Amino acid sequence: MMSGIDWKTHTYAQLPSTQDYVKELGDEGLPEGIVVQCLTQTKGRGRHGNSWTSPMGGLYMSVLLRPQCGAGIAGQLSFVVAVAVSAAIDEVLAPGHKKTLKWPNDVLIDGKKCAGILLESGMTGAMVDWIAAGIGVNILSAPEGAVCLQDVCKGKQVPIHPFRDIVLSHLSAHYTHWKKRGFADIRETWLAQAHLLGQDIRARTGSAEFTGVFKGIDETGALLIQENGGTGNRAVPAAEIIS
Ligand code: BTN
Repeated sequence: MMSGIDWKTHTYAQLPSTQDYVKELGDEGLPEGIVVQCLTQTKGRGRHGNSWTSPMGGLYMSVLLRPQCGAGIAGQLSFVVAVAVSAAIDEVLAPGHKKTLKWPNDVLIDGKKCAGILLESGMTGAMVDWIAAGIGVNILSAPEGAVCLQDVCKGKQVPIHPFRDIVLSHLSAHYTHWKKRGFADIRETWLAQAHLLGQDIRARTGSAEFTGVFKGIDETGALLIQENGGTGNRAVPAAEIIS
């Protein structure tokens, strides 16, 4: 039986970005399992170069992983982290609210964003040297148009540090499972919660837009879209679903 990850958590009052910190630790050769958390970030970053607003009252952490895999497989980790965050949210979410996972790795509640995930890697040749998995969860407040956990938990308290530990415990379980058994179960778990699966979507890359039915994800985590009028699926490795 493969044991779980022995997380080593370092909590700071404020950092520019936990993600930048953990990327440095990756380059410096520190071991897998380091977690850097802070109470507020001054330069929190999101995907597509967006900033991530990080006031007090949210969970902001980055985790250092060394999955010892090639670049093509590393994209699967995005889904490993998403299903772990999702499972943690299940533990606090009140009945009557619907949680979905938006490709590639947002967690939505009632259609609004509650958590975001940012994966960045360092490579040695074709192999992944380290992954910095950044996780941001709106807990006590949320930006305009987003949702926070406190508002969907029927008055239950969601203390940040215990919630962080719930996320880490699910991440340990899912990551260990992925290392041992591969992507199939993670993919199935993710698809079972996928936002807009089987429905018409629009996905935008830097240079193109694709419209069609969201059919699933492939082995690398790429979005599979059946374009209008087509029969086969187009695999889109990186994009943003805009509707
Ligand atoms: C996204 O949805 O665009 C991803 C957001 C990721 C935010 C987290 S908060 C902790 C870590 N530090 C950062 O600067 N970003 C990630």
